[in-house]
Amino acid sequence: MRDLEINGLTGEEETRRQYEYIEKARQYVAQKEKEAGRKLTCCVHTFGCQMNARDSEKLLGILTDIGYVETEDEHADFVIYNTCTVRENANNKVYGRLGYLSNFKKKNPHMMIALCGCMMQEPTVVEKIRKSYRFVDLVFGTHNIYKFAELLCNRMESDSMIIDIWKDTDKIVEDLPIRRKFSFKSGVNIMFGCNNFCSYCIVPYVRGRERSREPKDIIREIEGLVADGVCEVMLLGQNVNSYGKNLEQPVTFAELLREVNKIEGLKRIRFMTSHPKDLSDDLILAMKECDKVCKHMHLPLQSGSSRILKIMNRHYDKEQYLTIVKKLREAIPDIALTTDIIVGFPGETEEDFQETLEVVKQVEYDSAFTFIYSKRTGTPAAAMEDQCDPAEVKRHFDLLLKEVQQISAKKAMALEGKVMEVLAEEQNTQDASLITGRLSNNSVVHFPGTPDMIGKLFMVKLTECKGFYYLGEIAENA
Ligand code: SAH
Ligand code: SF4
Ligand code: F3S
Repeated sequence: MRDLEINGLTGEEETRRQYEYIEKARQYVAQKEKEAGRKLTCCVHTFGCQMNARDSEKLLGILTDIGYVETEDEHADFVIYNTCTVRENANNKVYGRLGYLSNFKKKNPHMMIALCGCMMQEPTVVEKIRKSYRFVDLVFGTHNIYKFAELLCNRMESDSMIIDIWKDTDKIVEDLPIRRKFSFKSGVNIMFGCNNFCSYCIVPYVRGRERSREPKDIIREIEGLVADGVCEVMLLGQNVNSYGKNLEQPVTFAELLREVNKIEGLKRIRFMTSHPKDLSDDLILAMKECDKVCKHMHLPLQSGSSRILKIMNRHYDKEQYLTIVKKLREAIPDIALTTDIIVGFPGETEEDFQETLEVVKQVEYDSAFTFIYSKRTGTPAAAMEDQCDPAEVKRHFDLLLKEVQQISAKKAMALEGKVMEVLAEEQNTQDASLITGRLSNNSVVHFPGTPDMIGKLFMVKLTECKGFYYLGEIAENA
């Protein structure tokens, strides 16, 4: 594994260099097409979070640029798994699917298989692939994804597996091809990496140190997206609240939001994820003042016990968290709150769990992702002695899930009959007479409409709550 990227090129020079590889790769693909007597297909399968989803759009951008045709089918000529390792079961899924892919490869001489993403940043994983999954063509990590075209060329010129993993990087390479999954919305990276080292979490080890993009590059990207039909962006970072701290001219996340809010033609702004320890009063004010910023905050709690939060290295306690919730609701009364919660962190007692349940009841989240703690080798929590009893963890998990679901249903039902602003996003896939859109709070609404409405905002009456989505109709007085 290499330490840092060492070729000494600036981001711009690297971009130009990669375009040369894209051109070269295009020739290799044309040659392969000739041999096969048909167009070649590619399939990018994404595991994990929004960061990975955005990275996959970059991979697909390059693959389609060099001549592959996109397909959802894993019988494709080029299959890439963009992996996640945040919990152990994410890793197991990849190994399972790889076995199944090897059978396709036996039947298709043109097939290539690549693995990338967070799981590949773990040396033990790469060792296992090198030894036991020898049919894989290309392995790379999270820091050198921009080199995909170059690595592809290297593989075309070699007859064995190419492995290229870096421990970290300080480089941000802009302006490479991207192929979006959705025409109307897009993720936008505002920063990479994480410096928080929550004691259970592997992300800082596989995504490297925190690096922010320059505001001008972010704005330019969003303006380009809007010109291309995007009406909603989601600003992405592991902790957006610490955005801009390491820039030569520091900028806060609240300041960035205000700038993005000025972009003409953009309708909605979302962001993910906001760490409670760095959530400023100015951010709350910016959310309140910026008309395009959605009334939704994903605010991971992780645990309601201050004792556990301390061992988790989260740098806030239960009271501070509840104070933020109070401030958010005072400033933006109809804000939707969602969260992440971990059950079974080492040493979690019945009392600790009851405190989590208490916070859940008090905050009344619109929805919550609940996770069973997963031991990640190399993290401080993995070395803690008092790992919890799995049966007890399961019991707590079920109790928590039940509570979360009851509250979500109650919150969703409360909006039934209301008239709310909906962004029309796409034609309904099952019923073409319906348009599917979203409320500012992120809930889905289906309502009668036509494709020309896509990308516009409408006042819609939520006629029926169907659990976690609504049926609606355009309000008369829109
Ligand atoms: N940066 C984001 C979250 C990234 S990971 C944040 O700080 O909120 C997404 C979620 O996965 C986390 O919020 C956490 O709830 C969960 N998670 C992370 N590591 C985990 C582990 N070892 N076991 C179980 N859940 C975990
Ligand atoms: Fe993981 Fe914590 Fe960083 Fe989120 S903030 S990615 S939970 S270390
Ligand atoms: Fe998974 Fe990596 Fe995201 S570990 S959650 S894909 S940052």
